[in-house]
Amino acid sequence: MSVVTESALTNLKTAYDQDGWCELPYRFTDRAVSLLKARVEAISGERRPEVVYEQGSGTVRGIHGCHVFDEVCAALVRHPQLVALAEELTGGPVYVYQFKVNLKQAHEGAAWPWHQDYAFWSEEDGMPSPNAVNIAISLDDIHEANGPLVVIPGSHRLGLFDLPEKEPQGDSDWQQHVSADLAYTVREERAEKMAAESGRVLITGEAGAVHAFHPSIVHSSSNNISPDRRALLLITYNAVDNAPENPTRPEFLVARDSTRITPDAGDRLELAPRPLA
Ligand code: SIN
Ligand code: MN
Repeated sequence: MSVVTESALTNLKTAYDQDGWCELPYRFTDRAVSLLKARVEAISGERRPEVVYEQGSGTVRGIHGCHVFDEVCAALVRHPQLVALAEELTGGPVYVYQFKVNLKQAHEGAAWPWHQDYAFWSEEDGMPSPNAVNIAISLDDIHEANGPLVVIPGSHRLGLFDLPEKEPQGDSDWQQHVSADLAYTVREERAEKMAAESGRVLITGEAGAVHAFHPSIVHSSSNNISPDRRALLLITYNAVDNAPENPTRPEFLVARDSTRITPDAGDRLELAPRPLA
């Protein structure tokens, strides 16, 4: 198995601190991606609360918390290289806070407006600080037309924007945290102004790519207007000492067990060095 070196991790941390996102110089092999895709497709067909649909349609938008009930997803979150990356970027032991796959189905996958993930975790769950990290694994080839994630570099250093008047914790509808009609958004004009000043990065590339992005980075993604699905698997690792005290949202959105995850090198989900661009 390829190993992400100490010096690669240090470089990633420098980029992440500066820009709020980074890309691993490794990708999951085609075999690993196929295995994950097969599980995602099987779970998407199940009738269970963790499966969420696009508004007013039977199209699956996302699946959640799969690492709890699916052995391949459980193996993925324990992947030693992912855990090492998360621990490097957060500076200490981590646990899995959230796991989801946003499917962005061909032609039907709806947008995610500009937002910051930490707005949800802070306002809804009481996460004390944004010392967590999202690790995104592309399960399909991602290009401009199938709704790539778009991030504004450096925006993670500016705090949270446009929070609504505070509602009592847990009162809002969790469906509004996973639908195209998000509860916490960054105003369009603000985000566009920030993007005009700082630039925007489209997270495109081949299936198997691994990116990390900060909970406070301003990001969005557009409708999938292409015939190609854009499945993106997202693992949020949170620092063990940053666990919220009394979260109330469903467990498939906020894990309750904040014990440090134990890395485990299985033999089916392999990383390989990514060819230089
Ligand atoms: C997306 O899947 O495009 C959005 C993911 C996110 O906002 O975390
Ligand atoms: Mn998000």
